[in-house]
Amino acid sequence: MPARSAIGLDLGTSGVRAAEVSYGREGITLEKFGQVALPDGAVRDGEVVDREAVVTQLKALWKGSGFTGKKVALGVANQRVIVRQIDLPWMPLAELKAALPLQVQDYLPMPVEECVIDFHPTEEIHDGDQRRLRGLLVAASRDMVLNNVAAVEAAGLRVTSVDLTSFAVLRSVGKPHGDVATEALLDIGARVSNLVIHSAGQPRFVRVLLSGGQDVTDAIAERLGLPAQIAEAVKRGGTEELTQSELGMVQSAVDLMLEVFVDDIRSSLDYYAASNAGFPIERIVISGGGSLMAGVCERLEAATRKKVVWANPIEGLHLGRTGLDEQQLSTVQPLAAVPVGLALGVIS
Ligand SMILES: Nc1ncnc2c1ncn2[C@@H]1O[C@H](COP(=O)(O)OP(=O)(O)OP(=O)(O)O)[C@@H](O)[C@H]1O
Ligand SMILES: [Mg+2]
Repeated sequence: MPARSAIGLDLGTSGVRAAEVSYGREGITLEKFGQVALPDGAVRDGEVVDREAVVTQLKALWKGSGFTGKKVALGVANQRVIVRQIDLPWMPLAELKAALPLQVQDYLPMPVEECVIDFHPTEEIHDGDQRRLRGLLVAASRDMVLNNVAAVEAAGLRVTSVDLTSFAVLRSVGKPHGDVATEALLDIGARVSNLVIHSAGQPRFVRVLLSGGQDVTDAIAERLGLPAQIAEAVKRGGTEELTQSELGMVQSAVDLMLEVFVDDIRSSLDYYAASNAGFPIERIVISGGGSLMAGVCERLEAATRKKVVWANPIEGLHLGRTGLDEQQLSTVQPLAAVPVGLALGVIS
């Protein structure tokens, strides 16, 4: 029997994914991993739109992958989540959390009563005799969170915690690595990408971007007048049936979308660098299905002049009876960053 275990659940645009990890004397074990595709439009930009479809697929995931536990840690990442670095007057953490709603309204574009808020202190600032706490303010629209939670609970599960997807990526991927002090983690999804910059596990900057691999698929579909499914196959390298001129059109659509995406990442990194001179980014670690797109790694390297490597969220975990062979494990690896990180948040 696992000593303590937890299940992380990721509601993505392309599918629902869950990972169960357990904590024991010998370390952390990945007990199970499973995923089931979602129909188009069921989750839009990180929000559940078609609850029935999500419920059906969650039930299929639980049945098909043999999850028995019902308690899950759920990830959120979308436009209705705001993460900002702010400074607050120093006070003990418990007091600070209680006073948070009063302290942070000015930083929010919506009434604080309509948000779920949290604060992650990162450093203490001493300014003359003033003592302040610098940290990340996280605020999410309560409606959006409750709507996603309700979908999960309608599938017979119980959401015991809700966490920022970026923090999940940080937990599963942002492990100390050689002498790298500060790095950027980038999880590229279909419609949502999460960028988190951290120093030795401490988050310094978080950004949720509403872009990802689907933008590239859409551009191919539009340029060539192809159905989405075929455009997706073309993007993944299925180009045998295309003419030379169609191939050219695919390439230019891909180039354009990747350029926009990479530019957006570069400007986020520049923005970070402008106010964090003491903690320069040494490398970029990519995960998510979108990180598998041909050319992403090279383009990011060229635009940012930083080394880009693929994440391995499973590295360092023992493997339980996941039912996945070596080949399957390497396929799911980029997709495991979020659910594994969500589960780690419960047991760590
Ligand atoms: N082998 C591959 N080659 C190219 N792209 C791929 C490959 N596998 C997956 N993708 C792309 O990855 C994207 C999906 O990534 P992921 O599964 O991480 O997103 P998601 O979590 O479902 O969605 P989101 O986080 O945006 O809500 C899709 O755009 C898909 O086309
Ligand atoms: Mg995702």
